[in-house]
Amino acid sequence: MRLFNTLTATLAALGGAIAAAAMNTPAKPPAVPLAVRSPYLNAWLEGGGTNCVLPGQWPRFWTGQILGWQGLIRVDGKTYSWMGGAGGFDHAKQISLHYTSTKSEFVFDIDGKVHLTVTFLSPVYPDDLARQSQQFSYISLEVGCSDTQERNVQVYMDVSGEWASGNDSHVIKWEQGVAGGNNGDVTYLKFNREDQQEFEEQHEIASWGNWYFSTNSDGGMTWEIGQDSVVRDQFKNRAGLGNNLDTDFRAVNDRWPVFAFSHNLTVQKWKSVEKVFTLGIVQDHVINFAGHTQALTPIPGLWSSYWTDERDAVTAFYNDYQYATRASEALDKRIQSDSERAAGQDYATITTLALRQAFGGLQFAGTPSKPYIFLKEISSNSDIQTVDVIFPAYPILHYLNATLSRFLLDPLFENQESGAYPNKYAEHDLGTFPVAKGYPDGKDEPMPLEECGNMIIMTLAYAQRTGDTQYLRDHYPKLEQWAEFLVEDSLVPASQLSTDDFAGTLANQTNLAIKGIIGLKAMGEIAKLTKREDKWSKTAYDYLQTWKTYAINRDANPPHTTLSYGDNNSHGSPPCPSSDQQNHADSPTGILYNLYADKLLGLNFIDQEIYDMQSNFYPAIALEYAVPLDTRHTWTKSDWEMFAAAVASNSTRDMFIQKLAHWIGNSSTNRPMTDLFDARTGGFPEGGPTFVARPVVGGMFALLALRH
Ligand SMILES: *[C@@H]1O[C@H](CO)[C@@H](O)[C@H](O)[C@H]1NC(C)=O
Ligand SMILES: *[C@@H]1O[C@H](CO)[C@@H](O)[C@H](O)[C@H]1NC(C)=O
Ligand SMILES: *[C@@H]1O[C@H](CO)[C@@H](O)[C@H](O)[C@H]1NC(C)=O
Ligand SMILES: *[C@@H]1O[C@H](CO)[C@@H](O)[C@H](O)[C@H]1NC(C)=O
Ligand SMILES: *[C@@H]1O[C@H](CO)[C@@H](O)[C@H](O)[C@H]1NC(C)=O
Ligand SMILES: *[C@@H]1O[C@H](CO)[C@@H](O)[C@H](O)[C@H]1NC(C)=O
Ligand SMILES: *[C@@H]1O[C@H](CO)[C@@H](O)[C@H](O)[C@H]1NC(C)=O
Repeated sequence: MRLFNTLTATLAALGGAIAAAAMNTPAKPPAVPLAVRSPYLNAWLEGGGTNCVLPGQWPRFWTGQILGWQGLIRVDGKTYSWMGGAGGFDHAKQISLHYTSTKSEFVFDIDGKVHLTVTFLSPVYPDDLARQSQQFSYISLEVGCSDTQERNVQVYMDVSGEWASGNDSHVIKWEQGVAGGNNGDVTYLKFNREDQQEFEEQHEIASWGNWYFSTNSDGGMTWEIGQDSVVRDQFKNRAGLGNNLDTDFRAVNDRWPVFAFSHNLTVQKWKSVEKVFTLGIVQDHVINFAGHTQALTPIPGLWSSYWTDERDAVTAFYNDYQYATRASEALDKRIQSDSERAAGQDYATITTLALRQAFGGLQFAGTPSKPYIFLKEISSNSDIQTVDVIFPAYPILHYLNATLSRFLLDPLFENQESGAYPNKYAEHDLGTFPVAKGYPDGKDEPMPLEECGNMIIMTLAYAQRTGDTQYLRDHYPKLEQWAEFLVEDSLVPASQLSTDDFAGTLANQTNLAIKGIIGLKAMGEIAKLTKREDKWSKTAYDYLQTWKTYAINRDANPPHTTLSYGDNNSHGSPPCPSSDQQNHADSPTGILYNLYADKLLGLNFIDQEIYDMQSNFYPAIALEYAVPLDTRHTWTKSDWEMFAAAVASNSTRDMFIQKLAHWIGNSSTNRPMTDLFDARTGGFPEGGPTFVARPVVGGMFALLALRH
């Protein structure tokens, strides 16, 4: 027992008065992160029409697939649902939703008698590989009295087999067990696909590994594994569960087996009772990777170096709750105050929603002496280690712990330095998650200039931030090879894709060219840092002067860079005009977000005049929710908005941020935060791809990465 959080108590007391509209702070997000720690533990409450209300709908995997997850509370003989879509229960009245960087906290008022605070905690440990390597999340239920009466209250939670299989007709197995812990025993309910298929997925859900749902085994705890409706009715009718295990192993959708816990609590005035649950997956091997040896090699989950077995890992995570709470509160505070200081509460509204999503795209693998981080390009096409997805996500790593970026770059260097990739430009990705086999045939999605620039820029950023210049020496031959490609291609870029590949190929892309030119300047720095001859800076400088004559439309009002070279002659219509676009630009143009690397690397290479010109220009083309990415559509990318904001004048920076915060609270999208939306409507791009839950939201930290 501990003293009840006064804010929560006050909110509950006010509950009656504000019942009509649940309070969402700092905003109503498009979707609420519930358990988001890795590509496979990635569960959300979709927002939209239901206004982020927890009971009455099922939580969903990032794909939108339902994840059975039901919460009940029983007060004075009456049972209410506080989470999940099971029928037959009244819904607990949701008073508020609050999110921080690591937590989503829902407060409910139960009939004016008790209040329930449900906290979904997905910690992020940027400085602690052991703790970050676990694919588990916490759920805390805290119950307090709203009146003076002491009461017995029972709480309940179950999960279904849907977590463990992307195909509901697959058979799952299960067991119950008890493991010792330092705060008393932990009871776990384990379930897994009978037919384990390592490194395979169905509908993005892993076809291998074991799921564990756990809680404290103290006196008032009961558990049950059985058919969903039977188990829930048992709780409703008997105020507890029977500690029974249905031994009829069967398909996920065959009389839906659920894994359930109940706690019997005594609540008193001003004292709350808290019960903690954990949920997650354990996998021995997590990635199949072709590194130095060119042969596909199973890479262990990093967790397995720190704990002797699964049970050990499960109980260690469970018993770490106090530490997790303290560490998460510290990180929440740090991100909140750094964001406020950088650009106010609107900016904090953005960054605090992005942290769990960004880390939810990462899989920690390998061993403590050779750790790897593999990234899943969630929702766009599940590529693994996509360079132009790591690049937009990079600022969060630079801000929190730049060493982590090395663990993401290493697999790319290893694969290419093994000689397994034939092209002279940098590889786009390593395959499809979780198999990083590379492209010995050289047939990856080609983004030559983009990825050469990205690799050089990120490698230098890492070395500058950590002081690890040896890393530059170790990889100098590859970096030099990519720089030579930039010499050939960056000033007059061939027709090619940029990272914004939904927009198609284009020659002479102004923004792509400046990335390549900054990349060359960065290579000059790398040469200097490693005491080699700088063959690059002079070329970069010359290219920049020529780029300025190609790329700027000085006759426009206000002047700005163009989308591609020579667009200053085309005073006519842009290639794909949108009839109702309030675009004051008189020629095709776009956000010059690649300027960001100049500031990130502290190069002071690009003329201040260019920054000032763009800062002056963006407000003239801004729409309701953002500045459009370019004149081909009214679409935009929130990661690039924040890159542009980070290097803009204060007033233009604040415009970008205010619009994006406004989008978060008002967007009609109801999926895990998209980075691609229509700047005019705030919805998904009509006729465009639906991006959700992508780790690129690490780019929301673009301002914070510059503040050191
Ligand atoms: C960053 O992470 C590495 C690897 O876990 C760790 O050794 C280091 O202490 C961390 N750096 C900081 C500044 O915390
Ligand atoms: C799901 O599994 C069943 C049984 O193994 C199989 O018949 C069916 O084709 C699978 N469905 C999908 C979509 O893979
Ligand atoms: C819950 O605990 C109280 C107090 O210990 C006890 O009287 C009651 O019978 C318990 N209820 C159930 C359903 O176990
Ligand atoms: C690209 O720009 C260069 C320099 O202005 C020009 O010579 C070339 O024709 C352009 N290429 C295309 C395909 O427009
Ligand atoms: C673009 O306009 C500037 C003058 O504003 C001119 O100097 C330059 O040559 C023009 N570029 C092209 C490619 O026409
Ligand atoms: C711009 O904003 C930053 C951070 O809010 C502040 O420190 C700085 O003084 C501002 N600069 C100007 C010129 O107002
Ligand atoms: C919509 O945006 C406005 C201003 O940006 C904000 O005050 C409001 O709370 C938002 N609406 C919702 C439902 O979040």
